[in-house]
Amino acid sequence: MSWTSERISHDEKSIRNALQGCGRIPRHVGIIMDGNGRWAEDRKFPRVEGHRVGMESVRDVVKVASQLGVRYLTLYAFSLENWKRPVMEVRFLMSLLESYLRQEIDELHANKVRIRSIGKVNALPRGVQHMLKRAMDLTEHNDGLTLTLALSYGSRWDILRSVQMLSLDVRRGKVSPEDITEETFRNYLQTSFLPEPDLIIRTSGEMRLSNFLMWESAYAEIYVTQRLWPEFRRMDFYKALADYARRERRFGCTSSQIGEQVSEHADHLSTLEHILNALH
Ligand code: FPP
Repeated sequence: MSWTSERISHDEKSIRNALQGCGRIPRHVGIIMDGNGRWAEDRKFPRVEGHRVGMESVRDVVKVASQLGVRYLTLYAFSLENWKRPVMEVRFLMSLLESYLRQEIDELHANKVRIRSIGKVNALPRGVQHMLKRAMDLTEHNDGLTLTLALSYGSRWDILRSVQMLSLDVRRGKVSPEDITEETFRNYLQTSFLPEPDLIIRTSGEMRLSNFLMWESAYAEIYVTQRLWPEFRRMDFYKALADYARRERRFGCTSSQIGEQVSEHADHLSTLEHILNALH
């Protein structure tokens, strides 16, 4: 189904118009999807039920990000540390990932989503690797939202890997140590195809990066919500984007050097605030 023909409510249309009117839709959003286990435990469900319902949140957020014109969405779906979880939970998560890719691939492709991954992908079960490759090959030339799945991923792992590869290039004489800049280093990271994230969203109230895009997030805006991932849906995503639209990004400069960023869009911002307050 084409996402452009989806019918949405009048309120939702107003939110989208105000968000887009601000001209401050983040180019790259990263999400640390946390709280699946707590959501399930609060309801006396097995933990894996939280992951299953969390997949519905993934579906909703991917669609809305694409509709709004976010160019890059990176989801922290499985960290290197997550391998330490009980075997049954890991198995469940892996089968969920595989079925997500299997079930969603046609719809994602039809809506021009390009699927990519970061992380130690060769540690994933064969079935997941196979579906991931199929999804990436099929969607390689799509020019819509780039959906990057961080799987078996850890930022320290990626940074160390890059240092090792860069050191090999130094040893081979391809790079001289005095020429190493932030830009040179960045090119060795698995995330080199992505622009730096503008906004990192974390659910479940925890105030940590948990080894997610640590190099890349140096200047990202961070938004933490108490909502647990399985209950995080499009309205919560709009709230996060509205909060981002209000932020002043100084990148180390002063307010006056940056000039006006926020006040120009005061009308759209107050409309947004008004609607969001009325909805919650
Ligand atoms: C963290 O919650 C979440 C995960 C480790 C897995 C995230 C996976 C999904 C949302 C499912 C599918 C994803 C895709 C991309 C299809 P937690 O279990 O650590 O929660 P807790 O802190 O409450 O225990």
